[in-house]
Amino acid sequence: MTATTDTTLTRQLDEAKSQAFVDRFINRLNESALMLSISLGHRTGLFDVLGNLPPATSQRIAEVAGLNERYVREWLGAMVTGRIVDYNSDQQTYRLPPEHARWLTRDAAPECLAVTAQWFSVLGRVEDDIVDRFKQGGGVHYHCFHRFHEVMAAESSQTVVAALEDHILPLEPKLRSQLQRGIDVLEIGCGSGLALCRLATLFPQSRFNGYDLCDDAIAAARREAQRLELTNVRFEAFDVTGLTDEERYDLVCGFDVIHDQKAPATVLDNVYRALKRGGTMLFQDIAASSYLEKNIENPIGSFLYTISTMHCMTVSLAQGGEGLGTCWGEELAMKMFAEAGFTDVRMHKLPHDFMNNYYVAHK
Ligand SMILES: C[S@@+](CC[C@H](N)C(=O)[O-])C[C@H]1O[C@@H](n2cnc3c(N)ncnc32)[C@H](O)[C@@H]1O
Repeated sequence: MTATTDTTLTRQLDEAKSQAFVDRFINRLNESALMLSISLGHRTGLFDVLGNLPPATSQRIAEVAGLNERYVREWLGAMVTGRIVDYNSDQQTYRLPPEHARWLTRDAAPECLAVTAQWFSVLGRVEDDIVDRFKQGGGVHYHCFHRFHEVMAAESSQTVVAALEDHILPLEPKLRSQLQRGIDVLEIGCGSGLALCRLATLFPQSRFNGYDLCDDAIAAARREAQRLELTNVRFEAFDVTGLTDEERYDLVCGFDVIHDQKAPATVLDNVYRALKRGGTMLFQDIAASSYLEKNIENPIGSFLYTISTMHCMTVSLAQGGEGLGTCWGEELAMKMFAEAGFTDVRMHKLPHDFMNNYYVAHK
């Protein structure tokens, strides 16, 4: 580009718009850094300690938390400048206001926002691999992610497990009595198995099968079932692309599982075939549109597309899959459910979980 064109372009810039971009960028710099620090606060237990302490010095906080004071004080600097923790400079004391504590401590579950902050470090660990895939194509496998299943389980403990009884099961009015009488249930992509273990605990007359691609997730699920001494739930490492069951289940469910499938249409066909006549499918998946322009106003649009690039899409591509992505969207979801044979799909939004839709249909 010549100097003349460059100057012409510079003259044409809307300075206010340009400055507003810089201001937003600086804000984003701080907010992104805070997400990493919030994750640290969650994992070290510092929010829990602060939530239970009156205004305290960094020495006292570190002592109660059993942590290194120098690290605690530096982290508190991020919390104070981020307006999360109040600071009294005369006393050199720190205080987590109860209005913030109620969203950040473990006691805040199932509304603990700090859980979600952990995704940034999980994704950051695979950045080198993702950069490489931008150049070479292909994807990054589930097993390359550190702590994925642990953070996923923490997240879905809040959105799925804690809401099963009061919000999710009532989406299908007859489900509770069926489960009480005793039915056969399959969960595809069950991850660490917490949802299925909860159902198996609530409904001892029913029989539950959980399948997941990943051995480490299944190992965690089995440990949980053993801990709860459950005899009506079984977990197996199995790729549901190859599910061949016919008319075996009364209920098939999947939480946050279709959009990162290698072959989502095949899996939906398999689910339809595996259901008994009159059986119910119950899925949770991301609340977004299939059209980018409709996602611009989505309050977490950038988060969704980032998590897709660095996880949901790439894990599918890693298997030679379609790479639907996190924002495959409601329009495509409804079309694919119909193509699999589900003709009465109802899409629900639940107030506790603005990030997801809930789909219910019958065979
Ligand atoms: C986003 S995670 C959700 C896990 C769990 N449902 C939850 O809500 O915590 C998606 C899960 O689907 C599993 N998965 C993906 N493709 C699968 C397949 N073809 N067969 C079985 N599991 C699969 C992954 O291993 C992962 O545990």
